[in-house]
Amino acid sequence: MARDELLDPSASGDDADHEAALRARADQAADLPDAADPTSSLRPRSLEEFVGQTELKHRLSVILTAARNRGQAADHFLFAGPPGLGKTSLAGIVANEMEVDLHVTSGPALERPGDLAAILTKLGEGDVLFIDEIHRLSRSVEEVLYPAMEDFELDIVLGKGPAARSIRLDLPRFCLVGATTRTGLITGPLRDRFGLVARLDYYEPGDLREIVLRAAGILGAELDEDGAVEIARRSRGTPRIANRLLRRVRDVAEVEGDGRIDGVTARRGLELFGIDERGLDKVDRSVLAALCEHFGGGPVGLSTLAIAVSEPTETVEDVYEPFLIQQGLLMRTPRGRVATDAAWRHLGLVPPAADPALFD
Ligand SMILES: Nc1ncnc2c1ncn2[C@@H]1O[C@H](COP(=O)(O)OP(=O)(O)OP(=O)(O)O)[C@@H](O)[C@H]1O
Ligand SMILES: [Mg+2]
Repeated sequence: MARDELLDPSASGDDADHEAALRARADQAADLPDAADPTSSLRPRSLEEFVGQTELKHRLSVILTAARNRGQAADHFLFAGPPGLGKTSLAGIVANEMEVDLHVTSGPALERPGDLAAILTKLGEGDVLFIDEIHRLSRSVEEVLYPAMEDFELDIVLGKGPAARSIRLDLPRFCLVGATTRTGLITGPLRDRFGLVARLDYYEPGDLREIVLRAAGILGAELDEDGAVEIARRSRGTPRIANRLLRRVRDVAEVEGDGRIDGVTARRGLELFGIDERGLDKVDRSVLAALCEHFGGGPVGLSTLAIAVSEPTETVEDVYEPFLIQQGLLMRTPRGRVATDAAWRHLGLVPPAADPALFD
């Protein structure tokens, strides 16, 4: 079926202007994280530098080594999980380990089938194509992707109406790496075409400790064991946040101290930037506060909750909720979001269901 959804160059525009625009967009997608992200040098470049996620690394390493030994392109990978856990880093690592070029784009940037075709036809043998936010691909683009992933073929329609004819182009064997924060939004047919679907989990404090120590080494910051443990413990299980907190704490250490980051400086810095004992930030706490103080602990619908904290629904669902759930502070129920007793206590409140007599 997917095969019949042919490309229509008149719709996608094969003119040079469009191509240039497309290239600019792809370049932007490739450059943005580096330009906007001062941590780009902190990005692990090899599986060895990638801390934690032991099981996933083992699987990846087996697949990549086998492909390399056979002289073939690696199978397609899908990485899913909350933001900042290393999906983009892994795409770069796959390309590095296979010693091939990495091409970066994203679901929203591929508006029309022609956008994807332009990228696919530029790939070299074995290259890695990274599609970030792959759950946001349009249906028509996704259907072009199916035969490309499975048979390395691209169907293009030339001309219009009765004169239209279709040609089939052979593509090089490439490796598609998809990243998504929402596995639930990936369609079955797309998911099935990946050779490995991996879910990234929140990191253990031990792994995060290793990550901040590594980052401190790269940044040339003096971080002691206590400081590292303190930052790791309050990083919401997320390497990106761990690296960000390290930079903020380093600022505090340089401005208000002698530049060295120990446990005391770390705690002072984290407090200054509103990170509490449990690693919750201001928005995390306002989600819980809205739930408990305005809605009596729930159940309350996601969109109502999002409005109450002035954040987009998607952000609350992808960024804040997963960690609060993992921490046992919030529950998803069929009737809406509910605060757990632990959430009430974390805010210094008494859970409503509890008999006050128990606390006497
Ligand atoms: N396993 C790891 N070891 C060391 N550093 C890591 C690891 N995972 C992530 N990082 C650090 O966290 C940063 C964010 O990772 P990355 O950009 O790969 O996350 P992501 O999952 O793609 O996030 P998003 O969903 O927001 O795109 C990286 O720049 C890197 O510094
Ligand atoms: Mg990313």
